[in-house]
Amino acid sequence: MADGVPMVATLAAKTMEVPGVHTLSLALDTHSPFDFDYGQFNMLYLFGAGEVAISIMGWHQGLLQHTIRAVGRVTRPLVALEVGQQLGLRGPFGRGWPLAQLRGRDLVFITAGLGCAPVVAAIHHAVANRDQYGRIVILQGVKHHADLLWQTQYRRWQALGECQVLLAASEEHRHRHHWRLGLVTELLALAEFDADHCAVMMCGPEIMMLAALKQLARLKVADEAVYMSLERNFQCGRGLCGHCQLGPYFVCKDGPVFHYPQVKPWLGREGV
Ligand SMILES: Cc1cc2nc3c(=O)[nH]c(=O)nc-3n(C[C@H](O)[C@H](O)[C@H](O)COP(=O)(O)OP(=O)(O)OC[C@H]3O[C@@H](n4cnc5c(N)ncnc54)[C@H](O)[C@@H]3O)c2cc1C
Ligand code: FES
Repeated sequence: MADGVPMVATLAAKTMEVPGVHTLSLALDTHSPFDFDYGQFNMLYLFGAGEVAISIMGWHQGLLQHTIRAVGRVTRPLVALEVGQQLGLRGPFGRGWPLAQLRGRDLVFITAGLGCAPVVAAIHHAVANRDQYGRIVILQGVKHHADLLWQTQYRRWQALGECQVLLAASEEHRHRHHWRLGLVTELLALAEFDADHCAVMMCGPEIMMLAALKQLARLKVADEAVYMSLERNFQCGRGLCGHCQLGPYFVCKDGPVFHYPQVKPWLGREGV
């Protein structure tokens, strides 16, 4: 597909995950499989509303899945679409998680809120290819326990041997052993992994990732072991408009997944 021209996608199914967050399963107007890297995103386009960047959550039974929180001008009408209605789709864009380079290491996933969306496909891959990686640690934070997307999925991962799942709710939690009251970054103190031989992948509000970086440094995890998916205001999604610039990078084209040492000088800086 020419990456400037949207493909036509038809909404085949819509699932409410939690109020305000829906997964749209899209059938593409093509017979070729949709090839993407975990962590890449598509630009979803709704005529008369506009276009937004949405992470590719998965490809299941020939349908492309995106999980979307309705927050504004484009995402609200997107999640209000009815099955059978059509939208435009450009992608896949950006760089995903470098999973092939991380074989043999313990994998630590740290996500908060909808930050789990760009990461969940990578977790599925790691779990499905269990023999290629060391321990798998999944840390997810939400405000209230009821905000957790894919609750059964987390329970399934929890039930796997050598897969540690820890959940944090900052305002209200369930009195179950894998839930904690507090911030996702506090869960790092309970995580069991080899700091000398791990890879950390994280996504969520930048303030959360900055706090996690401090905690990881205390645990003696090297900067080189850390990857993060960043979010900016995307307009073109492919390095043309400059809206998503971060220092020398365009987040849409050079990211959204970055190796932490690449972006370290630019994170948390006012005006960058
Ligand atoms: C690489 C990348 C991947 C993304 N993946 C996803 C995804 O998988 N699912 C998803 O739902 N979103 C995702 N987003 C965020 C999504 O692109 C924005 O939520 C979207 O641009 C909002 O567009 P809008 O026109 O609906 O809202 P606007 O009308 O632009 O914004 C309306 C209001 O919502 C606020 N707002 C904007 N974005 C967010 C946000 N992310 N969270 C809370 N408030 C916000 C704005 O500040 C404004 O006040 C991703 C963004 C990037 C850059
Ligand atoms: S969104 Fe246009 S350059 Fe990144």
